[in-house]
Amino acid sequence: MSYSVTLGDGTRFDAPGDQPVLESALRAGAWMAHACSQGTCGTCKFKIEEGTVDHGSSCTDVLPPCDRSAGLALACQARPTSDLTASVLGEDKGRRVSHPLKDHTGRVIELTTVASDTVRLVVQVDEPMEFSPGQYCEFSVPGTDLRRQYSIASTPCDGTRLEFHIRRVSGGAATDGWIFRDLAEGHEVQLRGPLGTFLLDGVQEETAILIGGGTGLAPLKSIAVHALENNLLPKISLYHGCRTASDLYDVEFFRDLRDAYPDTFSYHPVLSDEPGESSWDGARGLITEAVLEDYSTCRGHVAFLCGPPAMIEAGVKVLRRRRMPSRLMHREEFTPAAGDPVAVARSA
Ligand code: FAD
Ligand code: FES
Repeated sequence: MSYSVTLGDGTRFDAPGDQPVLESALRAGAWMAHACSQGTCGTCKFKIEEGTVDHGSSCTDVLPPCDRSAGLALACQARPTSDLTASVLGEDKGRRVSHPLKDHTGRVIELTTVASDTVRLVVQVDEPMEFSPGQYCEFSVPGTDLRRQYSIASTPCDGTRLEFHIRRVSGGAATDGWIFRDLAEGHEVQLRGPLGTFLLDGVQEETAILIGGGTGLAPLKSIAVHALENNLLPKISLYHGCRTASDLYDVEFFRDLRDAYPDTFSYHPVLSDEPGESSWDGARGLITEAVLEDYSTCRGHVAFLCGPPAMIEAGVKVLRRRRMPSRLMHREEFTPAAGDPVAVARSA
């Protein structure tokens, strides 16, 4: 059964009853704010003015009973059970893009270990995916009804060849149970995209500080390369934080990029737990401390932060101390699917 959804700005789209409202909106090319698309961040909360929904597996931490009785719902979880009139809430911190969400079948053309417990996965998709640098895809985990999000590390100039950086989570359904165990070159994968509002949307006047923890590098690679190739940002400083040298990857790639764009691009790998006796002669400590040290003010800059939630929280504090307005801090948190606060803390 399909219903009609009308948003406050007059946007109207059809929404099948077996699909979350957000998915129907994005498939129709309509806009609704979102971030994680898995019910853990609350960005997609919207208000139902008329009509009813099935809240599905919306968790009570993100959508408490008082919210439900006030007519609020999570667009990424709620399925319509009648026609809806609804308004989108709060500040939309991300950007509006209208690449329609589509299902794709892909073939793995590269699966390489690039660092400790980290792989580069390159997928050739059946038809070009239109996306903006910084967005992500959702993979279906075979044999389950689970989906997992992975940021696109390649640029939109080739929408048929999508690169991802994936870190193994011990006991994780998608990583330990599939990607790091069974997946191999030549295998077929099911994915959909693009999703997310963490993205670079055209020319930006401000100098950019890109801050990525671990595989949080992925969307920043897409943003940096696309911006450099298309002259979209006046200057870019990329900070990549890892624990040890064995966790770092794409170092040569970014050094080459720095050599190709010496006036525009700088690259700062930072290691927090590298043993003192190692041959590492780069920066040590927390990535956020490195930013704090390098900038006396961040006025006139824009930031893109991506990785574990605790790293992003620390990054935001540092940028605030250096006077960057919140509206210029774009964030993508790699929140664990369960939304388990212990896991979120551990992911730091
Ligand atoms: P699950 O089965 O979901 O988790 C297994 C157990 O580990 C659970 O207890 C869970 O709570 C806990 N757990 C899960 N993740 C972590 C963690 N990071 N640290 C500690 N404990 C954890 N990951 C990437 O590697 N690369 C990406 O580009 C990327 N992009 C993302 C983009 C978005 C928008 C989001 C929301 C997440 C992204 N992630 C990315 C994380 C990814 O989607 C999965 O959450 C991750 O791969 C774990 O999935 P899993 O099924 O293996 O583990
Ligand atoms: Fe719906 Fe994050 S996008 S809760």
